[in-house]
Amino acid sequence: MDRGLIPEDIINRIRDRADIVEVVSAHLSLSKAGQNFKGLCPFHSEKTPSFIVSPSRQMFHCFGCGEGGNVFTLLMKVEGASFPTAVRNLGEKYGIRVEEKPASPAAKQRAEQVERLVELNKAAAEFFHKTLLKDPPAEPARVYLKQRGITAETIERFGIGYAPQAWDGVLKALTKGGKQAKGGWTVEDLAAAGLIVARDQGGKKPGDASGYYDRFRGRVILPIRDLQKRVIGFGGRVIDDGVPKYLNSPETPLFRKGRTLYGLEIAREGITREEQVVIVEGYFDAIALHQAGVTNVVATLGTALTSEHVDLVRRFTRRVVLLFDPDAAGVRAALRTLDLFLGSALAVQVGSLPQGEDPDTFVRSRGPEAFTTLIRQSPSLLDFTVAGSLATGLQGSVEDRVRCVEEVLALLQKLSNPVEKAAALHHVADRLGLDEKVLVERYRQLTSHASVVDHASGDASVGPVESAPLPKDEEVLVRLLLHDKLTPPMLAQLAADDFTDPRARRLIGLILERRNERGEPAVNEAIISLQDDPQCGGVVRALSLSELPYDDAGTAFRDSLKALRLRRIVDEIQEVKAAQMAAERAGQAEAARSLMLRQNTLQQERQRLLSAGPVPLSEVGSVNA
Ligand code: UTP
Ligand code: MN
Repeated sequence: MDRGLIPEDIINRIRDRADIVEVVSAHLSLSKAGQNFKGLCPFHSEKTPSFIVSPSRQMFHCFGCGEGGNVFTLLMKVEGASFPTAVRNLGEKYGIRVEEKPASPAAKQRAEQVERLVELNKAAAEFFHKTLLKDPPAEPARVYLKQRGITAETIERFGIGYAPQAWDGVLKALTKGGKQAKGGWTVEDLAAAGLIVARDQGGKKPGDASGYYDRFRGRVILPIRDLQKRVIGFGGRVIDDGVPKYLNSPETPLFRKGRTLYGLEIAREGITREEQVVIVEGYFDAIALHQAGVTNVVATLGTALTSEHVDLVRRFTRRVVLLFDPDAAGVRAALRTLDLFLGSALAVQVGSLPQGEDPDTFVRSRGPEAFTTLIRQSPSLLDFTVAGSLATGLQGSVEDRVRCVEEVLALLQKLSNPVEKAAALHHVADRLGLDEKVLVERYRQLTSHASVVDHASGDASVGPVESAPLPKDEEVLVRLLLHDKLTPPMLAQLAADDFTDPRARRLIGLILERRNERGEPAVNEAIISLQDDPQCGGVVRALSLSELPYDDAGTAFRDSLKALRLRRIVDEIQEVKAAQMAAERAGQAEAARSLMLRQNTLQQERQRLLSAGPVPLSEVGSVNA
């Protein structure tokens, strides 16, 4: 960022002077644990401490969620501060003045302009909000919001407002002469903020209010705020079927759509707690989900997702769920994000809504639980992409299939994480009904560095892979297993093949193999023998050292197992569908018919799982949670 403005030696002096234990203690209580200190991690929910602070290394690390870094990283994450702000605040605390390199006059002017914009936007947001609540002509807007199911509480929380149906509403209210002209704003200020627009100037003097008109007229106003809760811009929606449906503030020195996510300042708590962020496309999708109690949701602002968005959410979580509209454009949008996320070390899933629904309509008609279930079952971005390729490929000729394999392998080549790569290869081989060795061989030919091949067979050093999280439901199950919370009847329901991550597969396989005659696992032995394992060591250490965040291990087990099975069934349904279509095309009526029957069976199975509620307790035995 603008790190360059603060001299490096000042940054180092502050870091050397600061005591990370003291800084952390201001935010959470720590207790001594050997040479280190530990406490409850502020970045994920837990009940026993796995957040370790090391005074000798001036570092922190959470064994639960993998967050870690130095004293500046800590402040940035806890307070949502930018790097320079974190440095400056800390410098102040320790009496080290942060002399910024003398700002150029231009930079100074820009800073002043930004400050002014912030104040003006705040005043405008208040004006819009008051107008919505009190102004008699705003009645249609109040009716509109009510019809959309938006409550008064939500209007407050999101600071929703209304821009009156006039050419000079905000103009009159905020410039001299208007009743609310406390700030003494000029028309130039309002124009710079994008609140008013210049008319075609017919020889009018600049500064003449009659040369401008309101940008937002007769629209519901959604203030867009940054992490410091400063209003940086506005979105405005018509309340009839006028066009354009949405109008946004233009980009200003304060407002950049490509690095802003709507609702993040409200969602950050939920994101941290859920260890996951859901990214939707529309303002009202985010608003409706929050209102329904799904609070880890943010929205893009009518633009594609950017790498700056990715960096922004990474500050809060490493798990991302993307929800695109179910149409072809939405699918293409998902595919375009692939490059953005490859190698980002983020776990990305793609949720698909039923045709014709968006998150807003979905959560209003089916409720938050259905939404959460949908999120849980959504495939990883990679699986989603591979499935898309395979669905097209499987329908075609032999050449099509070959091309499809090449396409998928080319895709996998972009993955930098060897474990992910190995998992994906396994997955693709599975889907295509190919021998994994054959596929790996083909992959070896395609790629110059064959390291992935070694990992697929699990006998090479894997490097920093331990940082990659397991898919959520798989993690829950592995964690329960490592904490010895699974009874023999529960274990009997697990199969290594239900897991997609190769680390989870290997671990589960190993532990299942080594049960005694009563079906009890030797968990401790497994942990000891695997804690330095290049492939699974990271997961084993992290998941066994961290505590169990589940109130009820039995419920966590049943829910996750169910989600895992549902995902498998949904995957298989997709494949069978594709195969059936291929058979139909090829005129193989008999094959098509039997595939159709298979599909019906799977659908029934899916329905049964969905309606059965959790796996009954009798099936899993009692739980010593
Ligand atoms: P959609 O058109 O998909 O509508 O816009 P929506 O979010 O479901 O809107 P409602 O429910 O009818 O109110 C998705 C997002 O795309 C941007 C906005 O950010 C919007 O939330 N958009 C859409 C625009 O910027 N301009 C437009 O004219 C339309
Ligand atoms: Mn909508």
